[in-house]
Amino acid sequence: TVLVVDFGAQYAQLIARRVREARVYSEIVPSSMPVEEMLAKNPAAIILSGGPSSVYEPGAPTLDRTLFEAGVPVFGMCYGFQLMAQTLGGTVDNSGAREYGRTELAVSKPSSTLFEGTPAEQSVWMSHGDACSAAPEGFTVTGSTDVVPVAAFENDEKKLYGVQYHPEVMHSTHGQQVLEHFLYRGAGLSPDWTTGNVIEEQVAAIREQVGDKRAICGLSGGVDSAVAAALVQKAIGSQLTCVYVDHGLMRKGETEQVEKDFVAATGVQLKVVDAEERFLKALAGVSDPEEKRKIIGREFIRVFEQAQLEIMQEEGPEVAFLVQGTLYPDVVESGGGTGTANIKSHHNVGGLPDDIEFELVEPLRQLFKDEVRMVGQELGLPDEIVQRQPFPGPGLGIRIVGEVTKERLDLLREADAIAREELTAAGLDRDIWQCPVVLLADVRSVGVQGDGRTYGHPIVLRPVSSEDAMTADWSRLPYDVLAKISTRITNEVKDVNRVVLDVTSKPPGTIEWE
Ligand code: XMP
Repeated sequence: TVLVVDFGAQYAQLIARRVREARVYSEIVPSSMPVEEMLAKNPAAIILSGGPSSVYEPGAPTLDRTLFEAGVPVFGMCYGFQLMAQTLGGTVDNSGAREYGRTELAVSKPSSTLFEGTPAEQSVWMSHGDACSAAPEGFTVTGSTDVVPVAAFENDEKKLYGVQYHPEVMHSTHGQQVLEHFLYRGAGLSPDWTTGNVIEEQVAAIREQVGDKRAICGLSGGVDSAVAAALVQKAIGSQLTCVYVDHGLMRKGETEQVEKDFVAATGVQLKVVDAEERFLKALAGVSDPEEKRKIIGREFIRVFEQAQLEIMQEEGPEVAFLVQGTLYPDVVESGGGTGTANIKSHHNVGGLPDDIEFELVEPLRQLFKDEVRMVGQELGLPDEIVQRQPFPGPGLGIRIVGEVTKERLDLLREADAIAREELTAAGLDRDIWQCPVVLLADVRSVGVQGDGRTYGHPIVLRPVSSEDAMTADWSRLPYDVLAKISTRITNEVKDVNRVVLDVTSKPPGTIEWE
């Protein structure tokens, strides 16, 4: 394992991903973790991330010197580089020598471990206020910039390396190569961490954890729960039962996709609960978005809970495990890593009755989203599931502005299916993050169709591009694709006489309309 020590940078996750792209397993640990504890993890190498602090600030994070003396290869980046310099007796000046953004790095030792085979001049991404003016004793300066005399150094004998810039961002043109040089040449690691290994490892771990007991898993139709279920299925087969709640707010073909494609690909035991009537009844007369969300969430929990109880009655009381598709970013963000093995039922999404304790099985806890997709692919899940765009839990219920009724849902399902079909046909699925299709049920406008006046509803297309859904921009789709979608929707969907395009970024708009 390569440990990435997080000094409070948004870069730590990115570094961990880059290491994995180099096919080496990495894990993030907080810089507050005592060095002893880090070393107790027996890391093959350690990377120190950047961070917002200055080494001069009172209370700035520090590292015990023993980290550099344990014989473990260390690579410091930005703040990590300065901390390494300062801790080992180099000089870091708070001289106002700032550099932000793209800078040219001049490599002064072309045969160095990190830079061999890379250009003598290369673009790097800087973001710092302090600068290193003298490397610690025993170190060779390997690069500099116009502003910083010591922008990279190494002590090859002690396997200590550092760069002032951020090799993990794509603006540093040879960053990945430099990182790989550290991993392969500096630390002597091999690129052998693959999704195949992950599957093997997880299958063994799940078997060990579950033993001969039973597990259940809620399937949402999303990528994470599907891959988690497929992985657990591979490990324990018929000891797993999946529950899928059809709340009637799904898109066209979605339930069938889970029922047929997912089961065909995995052979999983599936319990489908048809709860459409129940949800529609609960949503009748409600048009406030927050109210809708609360009702859908509440009903979902009730139905799921009921299904779980039924399974336990059928299968016996030894159902003791709940499978969840928790991903690594969730684990890091909640400050974890070591994890909570045993949770009380009412703390999890299933909201189980108080007297049942489930142990969690979270086979994707180590993985980033794109890695989950690779695992899914390797497990033989179809592309329609693995490459799925995000879809909100409350489904089409929050894509109808106004009251949710069966008729409106059917109408929106048709319009949404047409938009998806045309986007797929145009090969645009990978270019857009997602494309909500929204029915403005409370709005009517006048149209003319088939020589007669119509008074129908508008459909909104909301194609967006995004990296993480926190911010988004509207996608500039080709006009001919938009035209085709518009023509087909107004021709084929009853009561719709207008299609409009949402050209708002997020912020100020959210991706969904409710
Ligand atoms: P907003 O509308 O907040 O959406 O910009 C950001 C992302 O989250 C999805 N979304 C949800 N996902 N349950 C979910 O699982 C929800 O209640 C929910 N609401 C929004 C949305 O589709 C987008 O990808």
